[in-house]
Amino acid sequence: MTHPAPTQIATRDLFRLDGRTILVSGGAGAVGTIVGKAILESGGDVVFLDLMPQMPEDKWRDVLASTEVSNAEARYQQLNVQDEATIMAAMDQIRTGLRRPIRGLVTCAAISGESDACDYSVSTFRQILDVNMTGTFLITRTVANEMHRANVTGSIVLIASISGHVSNRGINSSAYNASKAAVHQLARSFAAEWGHPQNTFPGSTKTETNPHPSTEPRRVYPPIRVNTLSPGHIDTPLSEAARVRGLTDEWANQNMLGRISQPEEYRAPVLFLLSEGSSYMTGADLRVDGGHCAW
Ligand SMILES: NC(=O)c1ccc[n+]([C@@H]2O[C@H](COP(=O)([O-])OP(=O)(O)OC[C@H]3O[C@@H](n4cnc5c(N)ncnc54)[C@H](O)[C@@H]3O)[C@@H](O)[C@H]2O)c1
Repeated sequence: MTHPAPTQIATRDLFRLDGRTILVSGGAGAVGTIVGKAILESGGDVVFLDLMPQMPEDKWRDVLASTEVSNAEARYQQLNVQDEATIMAAMDQIRTGLRRPIRGLVTCAAISGESDACDYSVSTFRQILDVNMTGTFLITRTVANEMHRANVTGSIVLIASISGHVSNRGINSSAYNASKAAVHQLARSFAAEWGHPQNTFPGSTKTETNPHPSTEPRRVYPPIRVNTLSPGHIDTPLSEAARVRGLTDEWANQNMLGRISQPEEYRAPVLFLLSEGSSYMTGADLRVDGGHCAW
């Protein structure tokens, strides 16, 4: 069963997200809050997910102002993407009172870290991979299961980074770079599994890592598209320390537009990937980096 192409959607509606709920992990962060507001303004209800118990009051007021543009609804839910039990408990809460089905996810939750590889604390290395890679895996598969249960199509945007493509010049961050390359590969793997049931050879083989293989044909669900967005350097509170060291000026010189980016410049790329405007796009990476990786 293939899903029909959405050819009847008016051009002006290609970026609209009405009639659906989109979850945004890391939703209290710099990029998460801005893209969440853009989704609200495009008609989608948004649940902001973050480790922080709540969003700072002034930020939340700003979010509520965005709900008025398209009569959308915003909610906030604390969770830790590293912990499957808290994700499941959070999903139980989110499910109650949802007025529109969950049909999208944007994963912004991540941490960064800087250390020379020879001196890297292994516990910090593991923590970065756990949040950025395993955390992305856990929240994404939970949301995909929700979509499968609701029998709806969906679109998932994993926020990766140029650091998944190239080593970040001027800053030694092997754990972060490796975690973002893993996010690219997670997206391709998810896209293959959830795009069409025939993408995977039937059954699987019993091994130590697969002790209970299924021999049943896989169930057929409406497709979920999965893509990554790879931002270049962004001007956020995270880059403040780099600015003090003069690194952000260096980064500005490393791309073709001669400046680092603003969080607002990721609104349109995220809306494009979430909406029917990108209906034939899955397993892809959208690099929005001022030409950083093209040099
Ligand atoms: N800032 C940049 O220059 C830059 C560049 C390229 C890519 N990115 C990526 O963009 C995304 C957003 O970055 P940002 O600049 O908004 O960062 P940010 O630190 O402002 O936001 C990240 C949010 O994730 C939350 N978070 C961290 N660990 C969590 C966990 N275990 N569970 C739930 N939430 C958790 C934090 O509380 C924070 O609110 C990240 O994936 C980042 O790697 C950022």
